[in-house]
Amino acid sequence: MSGVPVVAIDGPSGSGKGTVCRVLATRLGWHLLDSGALYRLTALAGRRAGLGPEDRTGHAALAGRMAVVFGVAPDGGERITLDGQDVTALVRAEETGQGASKVAAWPEVRTALMGRQRAFAEPPGLIADGRDMGTVVFTEAPLKIFLTASAEERALRRYKQLKDKDSAVSLAALSREIAERDLRDSTRSVAPLRPASDAFVIDSTGVAVEAIVGRVIELGRMRALWR
Ligand code: DC
Repeated sequence: MSGVPVVAIDGPSGSGKGTVCRVLATRLGWHLLDSGALYRLTALAGRRAGLGPEDRTGHAALAGRMAVVFGVAPDGGERITLDGQDVTALVRAEETGQGASKVAAWPEVRTALMGRQRAFAEPPGLIADGRDMGTVVFTEAPLKIFLTASAEERALRRYKQLKDKDSAVSLAALSREIAERDLRDSTRSVAPLRPASDAFVIDSTGVAVEAIVGRVIELGRMRALWR
């Protein structure tokens, strides 16, 4: 691969990997790949184009050609545009997560997104957040982490994240949706969610973000990725 160091961080939704990856990328001054956002954007692009949910080749074509910009909003938060339109709030909606999990099960879509994901590996390094970063996309990554947390805690974390933006969200419904998404993501035939054989598995249940970040920094030092 490119020779650029990659830290692959995989795990189920609500495991805390998004936050951990953001903090790590900022602290190290490395690039960040939010691969889940690419699957979410593919689902959104499909919906906008009026594609039927079963249209694999249509979704794969959109995955390859959609114009995506990951930027920063005036308040310092994220700003994501799809073909020139701000879709930040839509991308993060739980419904889009469900749609993403469905299109992500198709090999055509995963292949179409492969090159796009690998292109994020630029000097000085990349923090890659996803489900198959360590097992498929960046198999040569010198450091792989698999982040988990109990199902209850993951649902609660997602609930807290979503309820500021969407007051209609309920914890019970969210727990069900997350369980459904986890099951689909870990039982699909291509690139199922599972730890790479050489990944460090970290359970974040009841552990603060800062402690997880500290552990990853320590592991990266052990691997001579930084000092
Ligand atoms: O991490 P997230 O919630 O934004 O991901 C949304 C969905 O996208 C997730 O349920 C499964 C899919 N996904 C994937 O299949 N592979 C990835 N590397 C990242 C996400």
